[in-house]
Order: sequence, then C-alpha cells, then structure tokens
Amino acid sequence: MSAPLRSATLHLPDETATEDLARRLAPLVSGQHGPAGGHIHLRGDLGAGKTAFTRALLRACGIAGRIKSPSYALLESYKVSNLYFYHFDFYRFSDSREWLDAGFRDLLRDDAVVLIEWPERAEGLLPPPDLLISLAYAGQGRDATLSAYTPRGQTWLNAIVPPPLAAPSPRKAPPGAA
Ligand SMILES: Nc1ncnc2c1ncn2[C@@H]1O[C@H](COP(=O)(O)OP(=O)(O)OP(=O)(O)O)[C@@H](O)[C@H]1O
Ligand SMILES: [Mg+2]
Repeated sequence: MSAPLRSATLHLPDETATEDLARRLAPLVSGQHGPAGGHIHLRGDLGAGKTAFTRALLRACGIAGRIKSPSYALLESYKVSNLYFYHFDFYRFSDSREWLDAGFRDLLRDDAVVLIEWPERAEGLLPPPDLLISLAYAGQGRDATLSAYTPRGQTWLNAIVPPPLAAPSPRKAPPGAA
C-alpha cells in the first residue's frame, strides 16, 4: 500500500480505551458529520482488539442485539435505518475464488460501513481503506496507529486526533507577568 496521507498513534491502556476510540469514530462513519459510510481495516495479532473495537463501533452506531465475531462466517452484516454495515474477518480466508464466487466485492460500496479484520489475508482483492487501524500489544494495553489513506479517512483522523498545526498553541504569560 502507498504511504498514508497522515498517521497518528494513541496508547489505549485498557479495553475501555479501545471502546472509547471506537465510540469517537462511530458518528463520523454513520454520517453525522458528512456522507455516511467508509472502509476501515483492522490489523494486529490475535487478541489485539480488532473485534472488541468493531463491536463497540457497531454498538455505538445503533446496532442492538448480539454482535458475533465473523471468524467462522467471514462476514456478519447489519443495517440501521438505511445504512449497511459489513464486518469481515479474513483470518481463515485462503482462496480468492471463494471471495469472487460469493460476490463479496459487491459489498465494498462507499456508502456502506465496511470493517475488515485481517485485511492482509485478502491483499490485492481490496481497495485501500479510508482508515487503517493497527493495534499492537504495549505492556498491559495496546498502541493504536491510525493511518488515513483517503481524504475521507483524513477527515475522520483529524476529528479524532487534531493535526499539530491546527492545535491551539499554549498561552504563555509574557515575561514579568504575575
Ligand atoms: N486497549 C486494551 N488493553 C488491554 N486489553 C484490551 C484492550 N483492548 C481490548 N483488549 C482485550 O483484548 C482482547 C481482544 O480480543 P479480540 O477478540 O477483540 O481480538 P482480535 O484482535 O479480534 O483477535 P482475532 O485476531 O482473534 O480476531 C479482549 O480480551 C479485550 O478485552
Ligand atoms: Mg477478531
């Protein structure tokens, strides 16, 4: 994949921090600040928190009921109002025929929310994501690196982690001020 437009790394000390990050992304993907939809890829070792993140995001987008991990089914889908959510897990994915035959590519629409765990197992079959979230073990917690590959992803990232230039500069008291 080419270089991202922007990246930022956040430390997530516990599962609540992972869920909080997902809850901050939820209004951005579900259209409260622009067109709804977008593609998020989730990378990270087994147990890094990809499903935990996705579950919290789906929950915050209004999905009620059980949210299963798609580790066996490859895909779980949901609908809230007119917005479709597709949660893929390609851990067990081996044969690209399987993907093409099942017509999954038709689901990769820009106006759906597409969340993909283990996207590297389907490398070459997927368009670049709006946002890649890489989760890495860091002590008891995780480090999440968010990389934006499209203007849409960059808008999301800037809303979650304001870029340094846009951040307010700290007010300094003039020398000699009390
Ligand atoms: N920031 C965090 N710090 C510590 N533990 C976390 C954090 N976020 C999630 N966890 C925990 O890590 C585990 C993540 O499991 P989860 O099933 O989400 O991993 P996964 O990345 O989807 O794994 P797999 O590759 O098997 O699908 C859960 O037990 C969750 O409580
Ligand atoms: Mg998982």
